[in-house]
Amino acid sequence: MSDTPADVDRLDLVLRYHQRTKHHMDHYARSLGFMDWANQPDPFRRFEGAPMLRLVRPVDDPGPTYDALFDGSWAEQARARRRAPPQADAADLIRADQVSALFYYGLALSAWKAIAGNRWSLRVNPSSGNLHPTEGYLIGGPIAGLTDQPAVLHYAPFEHGLEVRRRLDPASFRTLCHAFGAVGFVALSSIYWRESWKYGERAYRYCQHDVGHAIGALSLSAARLGWKISLIESVGDADLVALLGLDSQTGVEAEHPDVLLAIVAPGPTDNGLSGAVAPQTPVWREAIEQIGTAPLPGEPNVLSRAHHPWPIIDQVSHACAKPSPTGYDPADTRESPGVAPSYAAQAPERDPAWFGIQTARRRALAGRLIRQRRSAVAMDGRTRLQAADFYLMLARTLPSTDHPVWRGWPWPACVHLTLFVHRVDGLTPGLYLLVRRPGAEDLLRGLFSDKFEFSRPPGAPEGLSLYLLRAGDYRQAAHAICCHQDIAEGGAFAVAMLAEFEPRLTSPGPWFYRRLFWETGLIGQLLYLEAEAAGVRGTGIGCFFDDVLHTLLGLEGRAIQSLYHFTVGGAVDDTRLQTLAAYEHLDRA
Ligand SMILES: Cc1cc2nc3c(=O)[nH]c(=O)nc-3n(C[C@H](O)[C@H](O)[C@H](O)COP(=O)(O)O)c2cc1C
Repeated sequence: MSDTPADVDRLDLVLRYHQRTKHHMDHYARSLGFMDWANQPDPFRRFEGAPMLRLVRPVDDPGPTYDALFDGSWAEQARARRRAPPQADAADLIRADQVSALFYYGLALSAWKAIAGNRWSLRVNPSSGNLHPTEGYLIGGPIAGLTDQPAVLHYAPFEHGLEVRRRLDPASFRTLCHAFGAVGFVALSSIYWRESWKYGERAYRYCQHDVGHAIGALSLSAARLGWKISLIESVGDADLVALLGLDSQTGVEAEHPDVLLAIVAPGPTDNGLSGAVAPQTPVWREAIEQIGTAPLPGEPNVLSRAHHPWPIIDQVSHACAKPSPTGYDPADTRESPGVAPSYAAQAPERDPAWFGIQTARRRALAGRLIRQRRSAVAMDGRTRLQAADFYLMLARTLPSTDHPVWRGWPWPACVHLTLFVHRVDGLTPGLYLLVRRPGAEDLLRGLFSDKFEFSRPPGAPEGLSLYLLRAGDYRQAAHAICCHQDIAEGGAFAVAMLAEFEPRLTSPGPWFYRRLFWETGLIGQLLYLEAEAAGVRGTGIGCFFDDVLHTLLGLEGRAIQSLYHFTVGGAVDDTRLQTLAAYEHLDRA
């Protein structure tokens, strides 16, 4: 609960930041107003002097189909193996080829684009403005052929390698693994400067979207390997700083702690604890303190020669810091930030009819769709979606026990989708609402304009809480709301992600601001992959006029805020651009 004066101040600051960084029709949130090309940040963090462990890129590795990631077989395997007696230690369970695949299908480069002598890389995970503020780490080992000792390893996407940040005392690493039922960990951090260089004050929001996308990308990559990625809420930001050695970084280019993710593999180390459960704090706290004393070879590279300060970003970052739990009281989910209510356990089973749709029609490999994912830069204004594909996409954004992304997300769904349906066969064009948490209908009905119908579209699957708000042509509205971007009207449908807002910043607390953005990023990542699976394309939309959308829906106050938009449809490629293979620079060398 946020009731100390410091919490009230933090809440106030987060609310002010959010209000101040809204785009409006007549003015945009504060930014430089021009592109300072001379100081464009280097998209690749390197630690000069740190040893680089090269990963061998996967070849001939078909893996499961995309739809198989959602069919629940992983959880079944996990349950079966958990019943088997333990045979191996955690450390033996991660292989170098699995680590390589986790990053190759999670955070690696996926292509280069080139035009007129300029070239730029693209990645498996999307990023606002392709600026990639998110850095990835693996905490694991020993890994045969890579490291004979556990280590904190920084992922370098350009090289597809791991830089050794620090070697760990095996006993401390084992303690961490046992505490969280993990065979290793992935951690994420953000360099806000990469985004604020271009987007100024609104950049902090975009960094949080990108974290959500990265968690989603890693979760789907892990699912390919039969692993689960689970968010550990009991570790606070200060703990993560100590673990990764981020306290050695200062200034505007410093990395900021985001999240620690447990890699859970079916088998002996899976102790059944999800990241939502806080194990006895002193056990892992001592291990992290011990790890925090290990030397950190290597110096972070300089990303830009000069910087423009955006103090409000430092302030909101401070206000949103995730506290470390001071004690463990499983009975009190409000006071213990480490203990999250588990939505997954209560999630309704999904309608088997949705699976009928996918098994009949789709054979695409997960790995192929993951690496071909791209943002549409233009939409054709013609392509129509089948209703079945549309419903399946929406269904896949809903939490459920075996879902490859949501099974590791410990929070109830707080984000609902407003849909601008333009071209979906069998659906009347218009404005729709998907309620993502059962029971939230009344809340939303009470907040939305009373002019809306809230009727069930004929043919919508039972159990999918989809409502038609009002029939009509909403192409112009979507275009106008999304900063006049054509992609919002030229797709088959556009999305506005509405978060339950101020009540969630009051409890659990201001730090939940980041979680709300992460949830939208996770939904966005799923929509990107769902679009690829349906043979169309998606694009995240961070540029939108917040309050124009709220006015359209009749939303007043801060109970609900739109945090992210998205579009799905038939893409038009820019034929002037040349596409090059992701690692042709390494193959050439
Ligand atoms: C949080 C976020 C916001 C974005 N906002 C926009 C946007 O407003 N307009 C747009 O055309 N693309 C937007 N994009 C797409 C990015 O420009 C795109 O991800 C980036 O250029 C990398 O390309 P890729 O997705 O093909 O890898 C956004 C992406 C993300 C993740």
